[in-house]
Amino acid sequence: MQIPTHLAIIMDGNGRWAEQRHLPRILGHRKGVETVQSVVDECLKLGVRYLTLYAFSSENWGRPQDEVEALMGLLGSFLKKELSQLQKQGIRLMAVGELDRLPKSINKILQDIIQKTADNDRMVLNLALSYGSRNELTRAIQSLGKEIAEGSLRVEDVTEEAIGNALDTQAIPDPDLMIRTSGEMRISNFLLWQLAYSELYFTEAFWPDFSRELLYKAIEEYSIRQRRFGLTAAQLRSEDSIPGEGNH
Ligand code: FPP
Repeated sequence: MQIPTHLAIIMDGNGRWAEQRHLPRILGHRKGVETVQSVVDECLKLGVRYLTLYAFSSENWGRPQDEVEALMGLLGSFLKKELSQLQKQGIRLMAVGELDRLPKSINKILQDIIQKTADNDRMVLNLALSYGSRNELTRAIQSLGKEIAEGSLRVEDVTEEAIGNALDTQAIPDPDLMIRTSGEMRISNFLLWQLAYSELYFTEAFWPDFSRELLYKAIEEYSIRQRRFGLTAAQLRSEDSIPGEGNH
């Protein structure tokens, strides 16, 4: 089985999982945290090097206040519990998004863990928090524009590479595989630039039901797909290297 270097996941369907059981939505999120823990463990075993999880979108701030607060509470307790586990497992925590919009206490724990795990090198767990791809691109364009205005960057140096380096994900290669749970077939403002050549996989399962077996199924499907990067199959057969390999 070919293992994606970078797996990105839109964890969707916690609310519907709970509603189907006549439970409050927050119990779906709570169960979703358990799935996060098991998927992290499985990815580590499989040898995935980067795992990005869409944990809270820019748009999620618009949810009812009690749900936002409950999600922040779950995130806080997850982070507090997770530090020793991350250290034990050699996992480095990273985060992308407008982190300064998070409650101060959560951002503080987050920065603390990011710093404490910075030397871990078995896997990167990258949390997309208060994240929206258009927002990320807007911030990147603003920062490049500022450098141009100040005279430290020339317009012709605004290359794809320079744009990639101005994004929150600068230190992380593009995802090889993106999985979305819950049957919705949308990207929902997630890594729009970075997913340009990624394989996309959709499963009907709600996130709390996303088991080890379903993860394996997604990776097996990814293994048999042929990534062509815009070339023909014949070109790929005759070429030793794929353009952009290492980045994609
Ligand atoms: C989507 O379900 C899920 C979210 C908005 C949040 C995902 C969060 C977690 C799994 C828990 C916190 C994360 C971490 C890393 C501790 P939904 O509410 O959109 O479900 P629905 O579409 O069925 O309503």
